[in-house]
Amino acid sequence: MATNFTNPFKPGAGHMPPYLAGRGEEEAQFRRLLSQTEILENLVLTGLRGVGKTVLLETFKPLAIKEGWLWVGTDLSEAVSVSEQNLALRIMTDLAAVTSAYHLNAGERAEVGFGSATTPLSQPVNFKFLASMFDNEPGLVTDKLKAVLEFVWTLISTTGRKGIVFAYDEAQNLSDNAQKEQFPLSVLLDVFQSIQRKGIPFMLALSGLPTLFPKLVDARTFAERMFRVVSLHQLSRSDCEAAITRPVADAQSPISFSAQSVAIIAELSGGYPYFIQFICREVYDLWIQRFDAGDDPGIPIVEITRKLDTDFFAGRWAKATDRQRALMWVISNLENCDAEFSVQEIVVMSDGVLEKPFTSSHANQILATLAAAGLIYKNRHGKYMFAVPLMSNFVRRQSGDGGDAKLSAA
Ligand SMILES: Nc1ncnc2c1ncn2[C@@H]1O[C@H](COP(=O)(O)OP(=O)(O)O)[C@@H](O)[C@H]1O
Ligand SMILES: [Mg+2]
Repeated sequence: MATNFTNPFKPGAGHMPPYLAGRGEEEAQFRRLLSQTEILENLVLTGLRGVGKTVLLETFKPLAIKEGWLWVGTDLSEAVSVSEQNLALRIMTDLAAVTSAYHLNAGERAEVGFGSATTPLSQPVNFKFLASMFDNEPGLVTDKLKAVLEFVWTLISTTGRKGIVFAYDEAQNLSDNAQKEQFPLSVLLDVFQSIQRKGIPFMLALSGLPTLFPKLVDARTFAERMFRVVSLHQLSRSDCEAAITRPVADAQSPISFSAQSVAIIAELSGGYPYFIQFICREVYDLWIQRFDAGDDPGIPIVEITRKLDTDFFAGRWAKATDRQRALMWVISNLENCDAEFSVQEIVVMSDGVLEKPFTSSHANQILATLAAAGLIYKNRHGKYMFAVPLMSNFVRRQSGDGGDAKLSAA
């Protein structure tokens, strides 16, 4: 029966979609980076939440391995940013996953100038080994980490590997902290720049929100030249349609989306991958149930929109203050609200739509609080964007009946 079919769609952070649509150009860019023998450029993969960074990075892994690279890395949590030591431990932990397959005998250990070579048994190059090498090395964290990485390359280079990709997702979590005199982000950049200059093919692949690249450049101006920035956006119309139709066709599902339904879903999703998965999952579930009942349900736009609002947007909206909401509402009136906008544009618009308009210093202030809350981000050119895709539509829906009057009083 139709109800036995499992829903193929996968809305959820980091969940591999049933069909990964588009991204051919981004993959080609990554392949070009992989073809470097001397690393001049590293990868920054960036874009709004839900645009598909994590799953794309995940598909780069087998690709790199097939090209002869090793791949290490994880998600960067804020804890990694607490200290330089934590960053070093993170990198060595990740490295150990591949180096522990290698063993050194006493002679080799003496050769790399490490260990007293008291035990003749061969020793795995595991985390313990790397960590004690790190500890025994004189100097700052940067020097110690460089020494460990250089050693690892002497080990790996004999095996015919092209190099190692260090892939870190959620890399916007990395920060320097001048107050605590801890600079893990700068250490990471310094270490990789230095070893890459020495010809060691260790490549960084950092993925994260649009704040990532400005952060890197703020920490070290040379980061500007060190990274190739690949920005993910919403899918093109035809890729979006493929993301909707292919999973259903591949699953040989008893139902299929009509051209009209596909068009509606594409429109509702704005081409954003997370929304495509979310809407398709809802529609599919609904259709599977009604399929048994034998009618043709069409797309329940109102219900799906409401579900998306409660599941995705409402939590963020609930946390905003009245003044923040008013500002977002002003923004959502701008023609360019889904792209970049300036403080000046907000001020001008607020004069037109609010009883109590914003001054530019006030708007600036609120934008800063919205940025801290992860709803807005500021790019390197001083312009702003919504940090959440399709936010402007949501904001407009909130002020539907008489909301304008309410907002102007805020
Ligand atoms: N190219 C794509 N085609 C179809 N669905 C995608 C695509 N990229 C991502 N998705 C889906 O979008 C959602 C968000 O992906 P994710 O990689 O977690 O985004 P991000 O890391 O940018 O927040 C997931 O449900 C995923 O299955
Ligand atoms: Mg992600």
